[in-house]
Formats: sequence, C-alpha cells, structure tokens
Amino acid sequence: MLSKKIEAALNEQIKVEAESSQVYLSMACWAEVQGFEGVAQFMYAHSDEERMHMLKLVKFVNERGGHAKISQLDAPPLEFGSFKEVFQTLFEHEVFVSKSINDLVHITLEERDYATHNFLQWYVSEQIEEEALARNILDKINLIGDDKSGFYLFDNDIKQLIVADTPPA
Ligand code: FEO
Repeated sequence: MLSKKIEAALNEQIKVEAESSQVYLSMACWAEVQGFEGVAQFMYAHSDEERMHMLKLVKFVNERGGHAKISQLDAPPLEFGSFKEVFQTLFEHEVFVSKSINDLVHITLEERDYATHNFLQWYVSEQIEEEALARNILDKINLIGDDKSGFYLFDNDIKQLIVADTPPA
C-alpha cells in the first residue's frame, strides 16, 4: 500500500514522463516538417518510450492501492533553432528527469517504502542510459559543426540508434 506522500510523488513523476513524451513529439514534428526524416523517426520513437515510462508508473500506482492521476500538461516548445539546440534541450531534459527520479528515490527511503524503492531502480538504470545516449549524440553534433553534408549523414545514421535505444516491452 502506498503512503499518500509516495502516491503524490509518483503522480508528479507520471506528469514528468508525460511531458517528456510531449517534448519529444514536438521535436519529431519540428524535424519532420524540415525534412530530417531520421531525427523525426528517432524523436517519435523516443516519445513512445516516454509514454511507456509513464504507463509503467500509472500501472504501479494503481496496483499498489493508489490512484494514478492523469493531469493537464505544460505545452512543449514548438520551435527549435537548430539540430544542436534540439539535442542540447533533449540532454538537459534528461538531466532534469534524472534529478526528478533521484528525488523520488530519496523520498522512498525516507518513507521506508522498499517496494517502491525497488520498482524505481529500473528508472535509475534507464536514466543512466538515456543521459549517455543524449551526450553521445551531442558529441557527434559538435563534431559535425556547420557541415551540411555531415548533417545529411547524421540524419541517416541516427536511425540506427532507434533500434538500439528501444527497450524490451
Ligand atoms: Fe523517461 Fe527520458 O526519461
């Protein structure tokens, strides 16, 4: 059974994951209308993944005697200045999500809720991977600089990362 404090904290995280899904969906649209098919595919897949992160929390809350609250979300940015800005935003967003997960883990220890603590370990591992992936992509973009043909190749290459990044259901 979840305490009210843990239930509220998990519901906050549900919102964070739902907003993450919206942010990446917006990035997918930005990339798609500009013809960056690879980046768009990557962002659509990433958006789906965030929805999966959200659903996993929703089911956990409901199964543990709580009530998952589906709330209004903050609107994501619609425009991004460049590829670099998109992936810089993605990286910073993942750092923010990691902090949010860490805070949540901290609350479970304070509340001595070891079941939720155990459940959250999956998210802790996932955040290590997500931050590493975002950092890796940013490094590549920094290498490309302003080279247009480099961006064409990057847009093609990023499709490979979609398969690698898709977690098992
Ligand atoms: Fe669900 Fe990308 O953190």
